Amino acid sequence: MDYRYTVAQGPALSQINADALLVILTGDHANTGDPVLDGLAEQALKANDWALKGGKVLYVHRPAGVKAPRLVLVAAADASGKAFKAAVGKGVAEIKDRGVAHLAIAVGAGWPLEAGHAQSLVLAVADATYVYRHTKPSAPKTSGLNKVTLLGSGAQTVNLKAGLAQGQAVAEGVTLARECGNRPGNYCTPTYLANEAKRLGKEFKHLKVQVLDRPALQKLGMGSFLSVANGSDEPPKFIILQYEGAAKSQAPVVLVGKGITFDSGGISIKPGAGMDEMKFDMGGAASVLGTFRAVAELKPKVNLVGLIPTCENMPSGTATRPGDVVTSMSGQTIEVLNTDAEGRLILCDALTYAERFKPAVVVDIATLTGACVVALGHVHSGLFSADEALAQALLSAGQQAQDTAWRLPLDDEYGDSLKSNFADMGNVGGREGGAITAAVFLSKFTKAYRWAHLDIAGSAWKSGGAKGGTGRPVGLLTQFVLSQAGEGALKPQASVAAKKTTKAAGKAA
Ligand code: BES
Ligand code: MN
Ligand code: ZN
Repeated sequence: MDYRYTVAQGPALSQINADALLVILTGDHANTGDPVLDGLAEQALKANDWALKGGKVLYVHRPAGVKAPRLVLVAAADASGKAFKAAVGKGVAEIKDRGVAHLAIAVGAGWPLEAGHAQSLVLAVADATYVYRHTKPSAPKTSGLNKVTLLGSGAQTVNLKAGLAQGQAVAEGVTLARECGNRPGNYCTPTYLANEAKRLGKEFKHLKVQVLDRPALQKLGMGSFLSVANGSDEPPKFIILQYEGAAKSQAPVVLVGKGITFDSGGISIKPGAGMDEMKFDMGGAASVLGTFRAVAELKPKVNLVGLIPTCENMPSGTATRPGDVVTSMSGQTIEVLNTDAEGRLILCDALTYAERFKPAVVVDIATLTGACVVALGHVHSGLFSADEALAQALLSAGQQAQDTAWRLPLDDEYGDSLKSNFADMGNVGGREGGAITAAVFLSKFTKAYRWAHLDIAGSAWKSGGAKGGTGRPVGLLTQFVLSQAGEGALKPQASVAAKKTTKAAGKAA
């Protein structure tokens, strides 16, 4: 994205010099403050050409008395950041194919514009103008939009500028995550994700990136992770990203992202219908990369570690069989009752590896279960944590970023169905409460630190006509990481070492 975003305190709206003028109004902020535009809006309302109802759009070409050759009025449901974002999205969709290079955006008189609105604006513009082209060069060229001016009054300018800057960084991260997700499985391989991480490491001097190959993973004892990669010819990778924004002595936030670049189900193979969408099964990994992209640009005073176990889940003569028992890095053994419950198998070893960073908190992000989609649909990501303060911090980051999560329970009882006669645990429970049993499985590897799990199976991508990655939850995660800079930061769990439950983890660290 090469847009320039600015805040300006312009002349009367009708005298603004831009290729298009977009004005967002609500019932409570129905006046633009400019008599020419107010007259025009009033006429449109009277003629039933437009209504002050959330989402209603009026496009006017060369309106009399208005300098901008294109005028778009959009009604927002209310003055909230959420409604504002939706309205900007509608407005940009209206002009993006009309050869607009410079877009000016204003709101109704008296609208309390805040930094959050500015951030929403950038995200909405990025979302409305994103085009996937990598394997479809015939896709329409990206719109010629290259400058967006937010019209705000003098006192708001500093806040709005900060909001625009944060929005731009997050938008870059979201776009990176979307692009990774959208690339087909034969393009976006574990090696591709590793190279993307290395590229970030080169671009941002304060980002360190390391990639572990199979022999290193064998040495670490990541038997669970490696068992998922067994059926594929694509080599597995373990990506480690480190951003140092605070003193070395400060415990880091650790993000762990599921990076299954294609999930066929393995020997427990999935049905054919919709299987293509399992190229999005690296959405957790993509969101970690996207968050690092945003954080590297915003440079908050925190330490951040990203861990990405990535491989393919494929059937073959060398694939793991149902009933096989594998030994995780923690030393705990796992009976693989269903090779399609592979996400937890790669995450558990990454979660054990996380112990060595003596983290303040660990958050894993995974397109983990279809059951989570059944429970929450595509609106909220699923959040699981026994840690009250951490859960609240993540929920509120989601609210602020308009990238929301909903908390689900994590009682140990849900793990009863994970019992196995042949290993310390099985990798699946029953069908009921499937998103929760998956989370309880992961919890068995996270005793050494404060931990939360985000199941993004319903939020990482869209199906149907608008099929494609969403870049979620880069917004939530970035907001959360920013919230961990400075005073309010969550402190590590007391006596990390004492709480270590596993032999191998201690040895490896
Ligand atoms: N990647 C899938 C989860 C998934 C399925 C996400 C559908 C989005 C849409 C995961 O690896 C998986 O296959 N989970 C199984 C678990 C089951 C075997 C216990 C599932 O959800 O069916
Ligand atoms: Mn699966
Ligand atoms: Zn999967």
